[in-house]
Amino acid sequence: MALPSEERQPRLLRVLAGEPLSPPPIWLMRQAGRYLPEYRAVRAQAGGFLELCYTPALAAEVTLQPIRRYGFDAAILFSDILVVPDALGQRVEFVEGEGPRLDPIRSAPDLARLNAGATRPKFARVCETVARLRQDLPREAALIGFCGAPWTVATYMVGGQGSADQREARLWAYRDPVGFGRLMEMLVEASIDYLAMQVAAGADVLQIFDTWAGNLPAREFEAWVVVPTRRIVTAIHAKHPEVPIIGFPRGAGQKIARYVAETGVQGLGCDTGMDVAHMRSLASSIKVVVQGNLDPMALIAGGEALRAQTDALLQGLAGVPYIFNLGHGILPETPVEHVAELVELVRGKG
Ligand code: CP3
Repeated sequence: MALPSEERQPRLLRVLAGEPLSPPPIWLMRQAGRYLPEYRAVRAQAGGFLELCYTPALAAEVTLQPIRRYGFDAAILFSDILVVPDALGQRVEFVEGEGPRLDPIRSAPDLARLNAGATRPKFARVCETVARLRQDLPREAALIGFCGAPWTVATYMVGGQGSADQREARLWAYRDPVGFGRLMEMLVEASIDYLAMQVAAGADVLQIFDTWAGNLPAREFEAWVVVPTRRIVTAIHAKHPEVPIIGFPRGAGQKIARYVAETGVQGLGCDTGMDVAHMRSLASSIKVVVQGNLDPMALIAGGEALRAQTDALLQGLAGVPYIFNLGHGILPETPVEHVAELVELVRGKG
């Protein structure tokens, strides 16, 4: 029987503790962002994108915008996975309409430009946003902190920008696994420190985004996705055993059950390609809480596509611990009214 204190817990936390809820809690990856006019207004006021991430009053404001508009069950800290390379001293810039640009790190001398001891002041600014949110969030909304997984962050640090094939990181990892391993080691340590600071500041849940986990063969997946993620999960749980961690190894495909078993995550972010039946079988066979995986394109399209896919998820995952979400981040061209319709569909008022 549920204790009264559990009844007052945010619904997202109840599901992450293994309780199936109907309707399921809902939040959307990248729910704060350019599809919202109120985000674009604050973004214009902030100047640069990283300035927005490092200005607690503005970052807290944009975190709260989607909560006010839609009443989502969770807020995700407004920041970016590339705050970690920036804090390590790599030059990171966000170019309007083009995405992130970094001075690439591809060798031992490049690595020497990073300073693992210098990250705290920037992490502390982000954590000031977390502390403000802890105060300002309605108590029924959970607060999600996050970082990029070391592999995904490394693909940007080595490539200098996003790429479809992550070629520079993959080539460095094959040609010089020891050198690349030093970069990964630095990222594991920085990520543990950053996430632990977010929890200390008030984050209830953590998500580790491994957007580019999908292009690796089994051995490399183990070395660069599973092992670093397990180290982060183990270190955070040693300090904060109560904090659930959601892994999002996008594109992991057949390697997904092993990822869950070996990393020790409580939640699994499922990408758009995963079958609802497979999500259900993972939730019941290996006791992981599944999250996802509506196609962000179906949310742009709206109408019948949105209704059918939403229904399939709600029906297919009824009775297992499940968090409604997208299979990848919401896209800037998403109509705001489609998001409102989605929330109504999930909550049974559609
Ligand atoms: O609302 C939230 O989810 C919280 C904030 C958040 C952002 N980025 C804000 C952001 C989160 C959790 C992220 C994660 C992130 N950042 C990932 C992993 C998730 C994913 O979508 O795959 C990755 C790979 C990045 C790196 C990144 N940041 C890229 C490639 C880009 C450019 C492309 C784009 O979507 O614009 C960003 C910029 C970025 N991060 C924006 C936002 C709102 C847009 C920048 C702007 O407003 O000018």
